[in-house]
Order: sequence, then structure tokens, then C-alpha cells
Amino acid sequence: MTPRKLSRGVAVVGAGMSGFGAFPGLSTRDLFVDAFLDMRRSIDQGLDPATIEALYLGNFSSSAFEGQGFIAPLTADAVGLLPKPSTRVENACASGGTAVREAMIAVASGLYDVVLAGGIEKQTDLPIARVTDVLATASDTQYEGPAGFTFPGLFGALATAYMDRYGATPEAFMRVAIKNHDNGAVNPRAQFGKRIDDIMAAKRAAAERKGRTIPDWADELEFLADDRANPVIAWPMRLFDCSPVSDGAACVLVVAAELAAQFTDSPLHIVGYGQASAGAAHDRADLTSLSATRDAASQAYAVSGLGPADIDLAEVHDCFTIAEIMATEDLGFFDAGRGWAAATDGATGRDGAIPINTSGGLKSKGHPVGATGVAQVVEVWKQLRGEAGDRQVPGNPSLGLTHNLGGSGQACVVHIFQRRS
Ligand code: COA
Repeated sequence: MTPRKLSRGVAVVGAGMSGFGAFPGLSTRDLFVDAFLDMRRSIDQGLDPATIEALYLGNFSSSAFEGQGFIAPLTADAVGLLPKPSTRVENACASGGTAVREAMIAVASGLYDVVLAGGIEKQTDLPIARVTDVLATASDTQYEGPAGFTFPGLFGALATAYMDRYGATPEAFMRVAIKNHDNGAVNPRAQFGKRIDDIMAAKRAAAERKGRTIPDWADELEFLADDRANPVIAWPMRLFDCSPVSDGAACVLVVAAELAAQFTDSPLHIVGYGQASAGAAHDRADLTSLSATRDAASQAYAVSGLGPADIDLAEVHDCFTIAEIMATEDLGFFDAGRGWAAATDGATGRDGAIPINTSGGLKSKGHPVGATGVAQVVEVWKQLRGEAGDRQVPGNPSLGLTHNLGGSGQACVVHIFQRRS
């Protein structure tokens, strides 16, 4: 199907996020207020909140995670948007990206000129076993649940199939984790905010303090191969291959392109957009590539007239390290079966051929499910405007891509953003 172009240009003119991490005592509303204030500060000409006409809010499961359903109007109230319409958007881990897409469509339709797209999740109030169960409701609970699949289990199965077909080794997964922790260490909003060698140093210091044998890992790879330091969660995915359980919020202001100059001289135009669905993992002929990513990306490239070689940087959905490697292939940055070698060779580093997840990605920045897809846009906003500080990619980038995946690949949303001035 040839994708249609929007009948009206749409741009992002402000972007902000809360810190990502574990915040006992704070609700999603508190976190969203932080994100909203951060977004407001990012708008060069200032923002009168009364100009916002609607809210689309990505959220996977506030009812299960914080015992609060019907979250959109409460969140709108928290940032003073009443009585404007507010709508919760649920598409599992792709909820945030889908909220951005719905805001874009609403503006492009002409119904609104100024729309807030946001995302929230508060996962850390529940014990880990319960969090795992809630997340597993985004798998096929008729077939995958009874077979014992959790999300680490599903991505472990994808990683196993990928290793079998392409000869990838666990070192490639470790390289993704090392890179994303390096990036997260220079992102003040990241959950971990530490390089893996900093984590190793802290563990050595703790062992010394407690009078235990001080571990003698030679380097990060040796640490990551240590079953005690980095236990297997669902083989071959170990602890440091998993994104963490996180709280957080993010939001972006989406406006009609012809009004963007009222907000900023450096808007990001949404030039590519795609969304696709796919069957559950148990029902796929091939586990080494995700069709929803390929389909959403091909729509985004077709409407923009761009290809993967044009993109300066991308935030991709690395809920597990294998997911980043597969995304870099399905988005066309590398040939099928070559993403793992590219990760190992440094092609995805900040100064590599295609910088991937300069924010730290889900792995290190954190993965508050409903907020993730929106926070990806926040990073592209900073990078394309030259505001990413110590993690700024060189070369004055002007085109950035976001890739937000739902479940084990049943949903995918891709956007391409362009800075023109
Ligand atoms: N990566 C690296 N370290 C992690 C981590 C992660 N993902 N998650 C927790 N840790 C660290 C903690 O900082 C802590 O370190 P410390 O002992 O030095 O203080 C230690 O591991 C134990 O933390 P804890 O919170 O008790 O871990 P946990 O066992 O409850 O959770 C996982 C670990 C991997 C099970 C959990 O992060 C998880 O389920 N991740 C996947 C989430 C998911 O599936 N999301 C949806 C994707 S589609």
C-alpha cells in the first residue's frame, strides 16, 4: 500500500522529559508535570498553555502499575489543560510513539493547531514478579503465556534464532550494552547514568568494604560474561541485555508547520511517518527480523523521499540488546545479518557511521513503557538542535529517526524529523 502524505505540514516545537528511574512517592502525574515544565522551558518564544487544544497520552497500564485507570483527564488536569480533550493511547511499549502519531494526525486533519503528545508510566511500585506479569499481558496470553514466555524469554528466543542464523556471539549484545551505558552516562535524565566500568569499580569498592574477594575482571566484556555479576535472565539475554523497570514521563508540543515560527526558529518538521502491526512471535515464520519495523520504516522512507543513508542518527527500541541489533537491520542501516558486526565494530557509536541511541536508549536511559516513544523524540529534538551537551553527535545533524516497538514486534511506529534552519 502506498502511504499517503499528510495534507498539512506538522512540526515539533518543544520537547521535555522527567528524570527516568525509580521514584517512590511520586505518581505519574507528578512526573508528567516535570516533563511538561521541561518542555515549556524548551520553547524558545515561550508557551501560553491555554493555546494547547488537546492531549494524546501514551500509557501502557497505569491501572495495573499504580492502581489508577482513566489516566488522561487526570494528567490533563495536573498541567492545567482542562476542559480540553484528553485521550489515553495504548499500544504496549509503542504507546508513546503512537501518541505522537495521533497528535500529528489530529493537527494534519486541521481539527487542531496545537496539540500536546505525552507518555507516562510508573512501574517500580510493584514487586518485580508482578511487573513481569503485567508486561507479559502484551504478549499473546493464549499461546505464549501458557508456554512460559515472559518478555526476556521472548527476546531470548529472538536472540537465539538470530545467533543460529547469522553466527552472532553474545559479545555483540555486550557491545550494545557497553555503548548505551556510555551514552547514558552523559545523559543527566538517564536511570543508570553510569558507564559499565564505573559500575564495575563500584562493585569492586563494595567487595573491599565488606572484606570480600575483590573481583579481577580484566575489562567490561569479562564483567559481562561473569554469571554472578551479570546473571542470565533468559538465555542468551543477561541482566545487562535488559532494559530496566522504570518510572518516567515525557512530552512534545506538536503544531501546524505554518505556526511553528510563533514558537521557535528551529522546529523539527515531521517529514516521515509510518505505523504497522504484525502477528505475535509464536505465529511468525521468521524470528530474526520484525516485519512491523520493516513496514513502518518503508512507509516513513516513502513519504519523506529519504532512505536510511540520509538519516544522521536514530533512537531505536532497545528493550533488549538483540532488539537494537535487529532494528538497525530492519530500518535499513545494515544488511540482514550484519547488525551484530556493526555493533561490534563501533559503527553505532556517537562518532560512528550511524549513531544509535545517543540518549542511552531504553537500556540505560530507562524504559517507562508509555513514555519511551515520546522520550525518543526528546533526544532527537536535542541532537538536531545541537543541545545534547556531552553526548552531542558531531557534524551538525539535521535528520533524526525514532523507532518505537510494541510487545515482541506486534506494533511499530517510525518517525523522521528534519531541522531546516
Ligand atoms: N540492567 C543492568 N542492571 C540492572 C538492570 C538492568 N536492566 N535492572 C536492575 N539492575 C541492577 C540494579 O541496579 C541492582 O544493582 P545493585 O545490586 O548493584 O544495586 C541489581 O541489578 C538488582 O536490581 P533489581 O531491581 O533487584 O533487579 P530485578 O531482578 O528486580 O530486575 C530484571 C532485573 C532484568 C528482571 C528487570 O530489569 C526486567 O524485568 N527488565 C525487563 C523489563 C521488560 O521486560 N520491559 C518490557 C520490554 S518489551
